[in-house]
Amino acid sequence: MSKYLLLLPPLSVAFLPIYLLYLKPAPPMPNVDLNRWWGSGAPKPSSSDVKPYTVKFGETVIKDLKERLKKHRPFTSPLEDVGFEYGFNSKALDTWVKYWTEQYDFAEREKFINQYPQYKTQIQGLDIHFIRITPPAPPGKEVVPMLLLHGWPGSVREFYEAIPYLTAVSEDRDFVLELIIPSLPGYGFSEAAAKQGLDPLQIAVVMRNLMHRLGFDKYYIQGGDWGAIITSNLATVFPEEVLGYHTNMPFSLSPVMSVFQLLGSIYPRMIVADHLASRMYPMSGHVSYLLEETGYLHIQATKPDTVGTALQDSPSGLLAYILEKFSTWTRKEHRALADGGLEFRFTKDQLLDNIMMYWSPRSIVTSMRLYSECFTKNYMSLKLDEIPTPVPTWTLQAKHELSYVPDIVLKYKYPNLVNSTTMEDGGHFLALELPQQFSENVLEAVKSFRQLQKKNAKTEL
Ligand SMILES: *[C@@H]1O[C@H](CO)[C@@H](O)[C@H](O)[C@H]1NC(C)=O
Repeated sequence: MSKYLLLLPPLSVAFLPIYLLYLKPAPPMPNVDLNRWWGSGAPKPSSSDVKPYTVKFGETVIKDLKERLKKHRPFTSPLEDVGFEYGFNSKALDTWVKYWTEQYDFAEREKFINQYPQYKTQIQGLDIHFIRITPPAPPGKEVVPMLLLHGWPGSVREFYEAIPYLTAVSEDRDFVLELIIPSLPGYGFSEAAAKQGLDPLQIAVVMRNLMHRLGFDKYYIQGGDWGAIITSNLATVFPEEVLGYHTNMPFSLSPVMSVFQLLGSIYPRMIVADHLASRMYPMSGHVSYLLEETGYLHIQATKPDTVGTALQDSPSGLLAYILEKFSTWTRKEHRALADGGLEFRFTKDQLLDNIMMYWSPRSIVTSMRLYSECFTKNYMSLKLDEIPTPVPTWTLQAKHELSYVPDIVLKYKYPNLVNSTTMEDGGHFLALELPQQFSENVLEAVKSFRQLQKKNAKTEL
């Protein structure tokens, strides 16, 4: 046996990233059916009207909700000296249930939610709910459309505090943003699919069709959580329509990410700057954190309807299930606190508004099904994270986000990466937690995208 054989393992380790980055062909672009029908039964002729919509929780729903909250069976006491480590602390839950029943002002909150104009329109058999804000354009400013997408367990409510910043007119910019903020199908007040298969790519098609319905064939997109994955798919499949992509949660399931992650566990500096290394390493810490925190994902990706039945019947259960995520995903350390640190940067009203988006339209089961539709052979085999998109991209990664993707991986998926901003603050629900910082970064991104487009237009002349 030749001693040179010993060189084989290290050589192949070195070759693997080169192969993945430069030699492995990208998967084929998926063919999408722009008219696939998600409503019940066979496709029917449908209206393309866009109708104004007002959120109404409903008297009966409120009365029933209060009765259920009052009549809940006694919660099981938490173990001694325990915060949120075993899940939502039931002592804290008592406070929340009391507030929701006695102090949450349903009429006031409805008014608050309806402060922005909302609409519904039918796309591919589904009634899609969305907020649309068209700010008046002062002379010399161009109005440019942006699609903003939320994730789970969030809703359009996550963007409310950011909207005034995002739509502000400024001397520093020659544009004003027009915002389209839909509820994902099966979330909030958007209708849920009656058929299997409404995965993130198919939702991207629905959203693209919504933008066309409103008269936009070119637009900017922004998303976090599922919204990030859906908008990334949109940028991948409709690059000629997307003027720029901003995300506060870049995400990658590509082998490039896994290989670099592994390499970086040996030589972190190869992959990530020193001051950011703790966001990825030590890997053992991150892997055990993921194991501790992703049980919900496995359940929702396999049997959403079972646990969903309980959540849809019990408002205190729904509250615990959703707010546990707002605690831990904002700061890991909040798991050690008896109140989950929920009011560190959020108010009770903000978080209950979001829960009302699930309780009132009974959308928890259908929201959780998105996990099941994503973890399918069909969707996974599209390997969308491995198809590079030419769309100008800007990523914003908050310090306490659940995952961190280093630039080397971002550039593989988004070769036109204009900026990858890393923040030393903030968690998963960034638009809600730090609306001003979030919005400034989004506006900075659009400004750069526009400068790039002007430059490119000049060189083409
Ligand atoms: C990226 O954006 C941030 C925030 O606007 C800015 O501070 C930073 O200088 C930008 N980096 C590059 C390389 O343009």
